[in-house]
Amino acid sequence: MRILGIETSCDETAAAIVEDGSRIVSNVVASQIDIHARYGGVVPEVASRQHLLTIIPVISQAMAGVAWQDVNGIAVTFGPGLAGSLLVGVNAAKAIALAKNLPLIGVSHLEAHIYANWLVPSPASSPLTCSPYDSGRREEEGTAKVNCEAKFPCLCLIVSGGHSDLVLMRGHGQFEKLGQTRDDAAGEAFDKAARILGLGYPGGPAIEQAARSGSPCLSLPRAWLKDSHDFSFSGLKTALWHLVQQGGVSVADVAASFQLAIVDVLVVKTIEAAKQLKVGQILLSGGVAANKTLTQQFLAKSPVPVLIPPPDLCTDNAAMVAACGYYHLQAGKTNGFDLDVVPSLSLG
Ligand code: KG4
Ligand code: ZN
Repeated sequence: MRILGIETSCDETAAAIVEDGSRIVSNVVASQIDIHARYGGVVPEVASRQHLLTIIPVISQAMAGVAWQDVNGIAVTFGPGLAGSLLVGVNAAKAIALAKNLPLIGVSHLEAHIYANWLVPSPASSPLTCSPYDSGRREEEGTAKVNCEAKFPCLCLIVSGGHSDLVLMRGHGQFEKLGQTRDDAAGEAFDKAARILGLGYPGGPAIEQAARSGSPCLSLPRAWLKDSHDFSFSGLKTALWHLVQQGGVSVADVAASFQLAIVDVLVVKTIEAAKQLKVGQILLSGGVAANKTLTQQFLAKSPVPVLIPPPDLCTDNAAMVAACGYYHLQAGKTNGFDLDVVPSLSLG
């Protein structure tokens, strides 16, 4: 069964075809990063106008070599995200579903991020052969805890530009939110810290790059929020601002220390929750899961297997939307043409 996935929740226009919820047939992402970088962040009005320009070419490219009669459903992100951006994807999906007489499947962007863990890139679409990515390299590093199959119940950490959610997944479509950020999301903290350090947008990859030539030698706070699965990163961001104002520190050392402070909290709190809940697996997802220090620490410290999608499937894409849509369709969950965008949609 083949699903066309469409994703336009923020600043990536994406379309993909995925077979049976896992095999990537095509995966096209048109990033707007260059357009928004000059403003230091995503400008919602600019984002939605850009989606309008790119949505049709992106879908056409994803459909290259695929016949419409071989497509079984149209999955689209309807929230959370920017209203104007979501509207472009949802309306494109509705138009195609109507014209081709295909089921319309509304998908949560957060749920879709989790489903990146079910994706197996096809040899044609990517050199990667298995999720989690780089299993070869990780095994070389002495981390043999790789496992390509998600097993329930599992603990999902979704760390993106807008969310830091800890979610218990008992089965397909069964989610219970355990914790979330009380202020800045992890990716948002990376983006704001990079702006303070003058490293540009998006901040996560910029800080990761700067941190490579620094050492995590500076003391920065960690908000542990004991007895809660919630996170908080705004105090850390303020501490970084004060550190930079005082002067006399290297950008690389600040970047490395900041990155480690975020990674420490995410790794320790997620592993603690996994032990408490006795889950057999941890699933990482969202743009911040592309961070190598984060993934190395998880693989080194977790007592249970950790699944990590390849970096290009951690950041926004439509293959994860199509994979998630497949499981919705299997469960008979489809939507009518009254499907509307829900910018503040929550999971579980
Ligand atoms: O999942 P995503 O692509 O979009 C949202 O749903 O928000 O996540 C984007 C976020 C941005 O805040 C970006 O700075 C962060 O993920 N990010 C990273 C890395 N790559 C992207 N953060 C840390 N390290 C990275 N390598
Ligand atoms: Zn995302």
